[in-house]
Amino acid sequence: MPEHITRMHMPTDNARIDTPDYWAERYASGQTGWDMKDETPVFRGLRLRGEFPVSAVQHGQAATLFVPGCGYGYDALAFARAGYRVTAVDFAAEPLQVLQDNAVSSNVNVAIVQADVFALPENRFTGTFSAVLEYTCYCALPPERRAEYARVLADSLAPDGWLVALLFPTDGRTGGPPFAIDPEEAQQLFTAVGLELIRSEVPKDSHPARAGKELLALFRKSM
Ligand SMILES: C[S@@+](CC[C@H](N)C(=O)[O-])C[C@H]1O[C@@H](n2cnc3c(N)ncnc32)[C@H](O)[C@@H]1O
Repeated sequence: MPEHITRMHMPTDNARIDTPDYWAERYASGQTGWDMKDETPVFRGLRLRGEFPVSAVQHGQAATLFVPGCGYGYDALAFARAGYRVTAVDFAAEPLQVLQDNAVSSNVNVAIVQADVFALPENRFTGTFSAVLEYTCYCALPPERRAEYARVLADSLAPDGWLVALLFPTDGRTGGPPFAIDPEEAQQLFTAVGLELIRSEVPKDSHPARAGKELLALFRKSM
């Protein structure tokens, strides 16, 4: 098993996982086995093939993209470079500083917000985004908060907005984070908050370390 998977498998009590301190310590001690150090290949593939459900410019305006639990924000940066207006959120300060530095050095604009996804400022995060990019935030949260998280994502979307979710890990592992994802349960949670599943598939272009353990699921806000 690759090192980055085993490192993520640290039994910890869920109340602690739910705090910025837990994640800040993981970053400070370099226990960031989830860090793939580059844009997520599946998202890049969707964009380059023209299959990302929201194009960068819509009705003459940049499409807006919300990246919750962004970590170092490689995806946020890549989509911003491609012309999306990106808002990246994490409650750990360290990765956001790295993202900020990278955004400045690449001369790209990303709105970086240090916040708990369960306590987002309503005026900025309700009904506004063209799309949400979900990757490894869902699996990082205590599983008992997943329904609440699904609601946060749905609420953040504009009418007809898209949730582009790359669900990992789907291989039924025990312990966490990352906590295993049952795709059917995830679909039920997202459907319950008004997101309709439009497309789902096991992607062919996963990072090699995650091949066969991811499911790409595209949902559209339907109410
Ligand atoms: C496993 S890491 C994944 C980071 C990034 N998505 C990636 O793929 O590299 C989970 C991230 O979610 C953040 N996070 C966890 N719970 C959060 C919460 N309630 N609010 C905001 N960020 C949270 C952590 O600080 C961490 O950066």
